[in-house]
Parts: sequence; C-alpha cells; structure tokens
Amino acid sequence: MHNITNVGVIGSGQMGGGIAQVAAVAGFTTTVFDTSAGAVAKCQATHAKLLARAVEKERMTAAEADAAKARLTYVTDMDQLAGSDIAIEAVVEDASVKAKVFSALDAMLTGNQILATNTSSISITEIAAATKTPERVIGMHFFYPVPVMKLVEVINGLATDKQVTDRVINLAEAMGKTAVPANDRAGFVSNRVLMPMINEAFYAWMEGVAQPEHIDAIMKLGCNFPMGPLRLADFIGLDTCAHIMDVLAEGLCNDRYRPCPLLRQLVVAGRLGDKTGHGVFKTA
Ligand code: CAA
Repeated sequence: MHNITNVGVIGSGQMGGGIAQVAAVAGFTTTVFDTSAGAVAKCQATHAKLLARAVEKERMTAAEADAAKARLTYVTDMDQLAGSDIAIEAVVEDASVKAKVFSALDAMLTGNQILATNTSSISITEIAAATKTPERVIGMHFFYPVPVMKLVEVINGLATDKQVTDRVINLAEAMGKTAVPANDRAGFVSNRVLMPMINEAFYAWMEGVAQPEHIDAIMKLGCNFPMGPLRLADFIGLDTCAHIMDVLAEGLCNDRYRPCPLLRQLVVAGRLGDKTGHGVFKTA
C-alpha cells in the first residue's frame, strides 16, 4: 500500500484551511490551492495566527510550529497539486462546482492517488460520477473548527475501493483524528441527526415555545451541549444549515427535512450568523 506523504487541499476557506493546518502539523507536506491570491494569503495568515496561539498555549514548541509552516505551500495554480498522494476537496457545497473539481483532479492525478471530499451532505456516489475512477473517490468529512474537533466521518461511495477506505482511515488517525464510518445517504450520520435538531430549534423559536437564548440554555444545560443549537447555527452559518436541510429533503425524498421558514427568512435577510456578525444572535 502506497504511503501518503503529500496532501493537497482544494479550497482555503475555514474547512480547507483547518484541514491543511492539521495535516501540516501532523508532518505531511501540504499544498493548499485556491483560485484567488487573496484567499490563500488569508489562509496563510490564519495559519500563522493559530500556530502562534498553539505555541503560546504550550501545545507545541516554536520549532514545531515553524516546521509545520515550512511544510505548507499556498498555490493558485491547480497543477501544483500534481505531487499529491491525496487531494482533499473543501470547496463550496455545490454539486456542480464539486463535479468540475473532481473531473479536473481525475485528469491531473492519474495514478492511485486518492480523491477525497469534505462534503457535509452531498452524495459521494454523485461526486464520484464526475470521474472515470469512482473507486478512488471517498468522503472525508471534518468538523469545524478542524484543529479542535476530533471526528472524521469516512463515507464510501457505491464504488469506493476497500484499500482507499483503509488508507483514508490511516491518514485521519495520523492527523490525530478518530475516523468513524458512515454510509452514503444524504447528510451521512452527522448532519442527518444534527441539522434536523437545529431546524427544530428554529421551529421552537418561530412557534414561540421559548426565546432563542432560553432554547439554547435549555439544550446546553439540559443536554450538556457545548453550544445551544441556535448559537451553533450561527457558528456553522445559517445559509449552510438551510442548504444542508434542502439536501436532506431532496436526497431522502422527504419534506419533513425542509428548512424551517424562519431559518430561510433569516438567510434571505442576509443574517447568516458569525460570518455576517448577525444570525440568530448578534456576534459582532
Ligand atoms: N480554529 C481553531 N481553534 C479554535 C477555533 C477555530 N475556529 N475556535 C475555537 N478554537 C479553539 C480556541 O482557540 C480554544 O483554544 P485555546 O484554549 O488555545 O484558546 C479552544 O478551541 C476552545 O475555545 P474557547 O475557549 O474560545 O471556547 P469553548 O471552550 O467554548 O470552545 C468550541 C469552542 C470548541 C467551538 C466549542 O464551543 C464547541 O465544541 N462547540 C461545538 C462545535 C461543533 O459542534 N462543531 C461541529 C459543527 S458541525 C460541522 O462542522 C459539520 C458540518 O457539516 C456542518
């Protein structure tokens, strides 16, 4: 089995940036690709800040942080991912955009490199269908914030080769994560269970069952969640939550997964959560 030493990450946003950081800290030569120079510069600055913070908190030495930074390369030309043993895609949650990325990766990486997606709910089988080699396409679903969250949900598509799954599980564990398998149904396990709960919290608010801060206090104190569901929606992004509910409704052919009207309304109003400074709660 060919060992993974070079990790390529497509997308330098919150998820891609976090995945790249964790890979580099774990010792992998890591290349982060994004289409805009501004996006990769922002990612590099975030890495510098978070690694400095880790040194300050004595979670790593300054030499270890420098070594991690030295293993990271930021590129705006996708061809520079050609040396990757695995490409981990973390672009926008749009099936047509992902199809284009996977078709390009399939044409560029023509050996036994792995093509992984960090999709949070889109079917792996559907993404794999954009390639001629669906047996090497797999879901590698990380959680936000990636450096902190321990889980990688590993999802096989219909055609994923067992060796690919084993290599991805080994990689996730080498990155300090716990890999847990799930099957390729819309939302997998994490978002199949989490998002309807968040959606239900919006219904509870919309129907006046309690005020948002009380819904969150009840769930935090009563269920021991680190964040209440509405605060978590702000953290994830209300647009992402609504989109995942739409994917569940479509993928599971069941209207009970439709986004709550209030969630949709806030998205339309531009109240997307932490990224706009106002979602359910004001955070800026
Ligand atoms: N990147 C890196 N590190 C971060 C971070 C980020 N974006 N946000 C927080 N952290 C770190 C902080 O730096 C802090 O470390 P230090 O002690 O070095 O400062 C540590 O996490 C704890 O943070 P805080 O002390 O500020 O706050 P906290 O104790 O409340 O923890 C939290 C913050 C880890 C985010 C915690 O509230 C939590 O676990 N929340 C739930 C997160 C969750 O459910 N994530 C999954 C979302 S769903 C998803 O990702 C999947 C999907 O498909 C939508």
